[in-house]
Amino acid sequence: MNTERLFDDIAPTYDRLNRILSFGRDQAWRRAVAARVARRRPRRLLDLATGTGDQLLACVQAGIDAEGAVGVDVSGAMLEIARKKSAWFALNTTVRWEKGEAAALPFEAGSFDAVTMSFGIRNMPDIGRVLGETHRVLGPGGLAAILELSVPARPVLRRLHGFYCRFIMPAVGGIVSGNLTAYRYLNESVLQFPDPATFCEQMRSAGFADVAAHTLTFGSATMFTGGKGK
Ligand SMILES: C[S@@+](CC[C@H](N)C(=O)[O-])C[C@H]1O[C@@H](n2cnc3c(N)ncnc32)[C@H](O)[C@@H]1O
Repeated sequence: MNTERLFDDIAPTYDRLNRILSFGRDQAWRRAVAARVARRRPRRLLDLATGTGDQLLACVQAGIDAEGAVGVDVSGAMLEIARKKSAWFALNTTVRWEKGEAAALPFEAGSFDAVTMSFGIRNMPDIGRVLGETHRVLGPGGLAAILELSVPARPVLRRLHGFYCRFIMPAVGGIVSGNLTAYRYLNESVLQFPDPATFCEQMRSAGFADVAAHTLTFGSATMFTGGKGK
């Protein structure tokens, strides 16, 4: 699967489908990440797999008054929408949108105080390497907050969620975006993503300390946080 081409293709309808398919919860989940990051008052902020920029903009709107914020993504079409969207807001932070690969970041070690990544990690072929890069670019005492769709733990919800991911989401995503293959793949990858305990272990293996998983909306999304020791 060529991720860059896939996201270039679905970029025009991406935001609309997020709101529809998550019943509007996606922005609340991003705000939860932003609130968690804001407590640390980061001066330098990086948003990986930034897409159309909603997570970075949620951080800036949460009052994170960073010296600089950078959004990185492999998809030029997604970044183009992020650029246009950020021009609508009077931002109190300098925001840059850069094309780049999360597994090989073009930043020096310790360049950021906080790194966010929302709904991006599950489609990355080498999760360990991306987590390693995330840890590398954080400075001492830095925080990573990673948001991902997940599978509810309760059996009844789990079954309903599986049906929704396998049948409803690809159908609606396919109709609205015109790309059924993309939405089949994106929704199947939710079911394939490691469970929270396994992902927390992967974060620890990448060097993160104080790793925690925060359940959102009955477990249909999870925010993972981890720190870099001082
Ligand atoms: C589901 S979107 C999430 C966008 C955004 N973070 C949000 O909250 O809506 C996933 C994004 O990850 C990007 N992406 C996928 N693989 C990537 C990689 N290896 N490096 C950087 N970005 C990547 C895609 O281009 C896409 O924009």
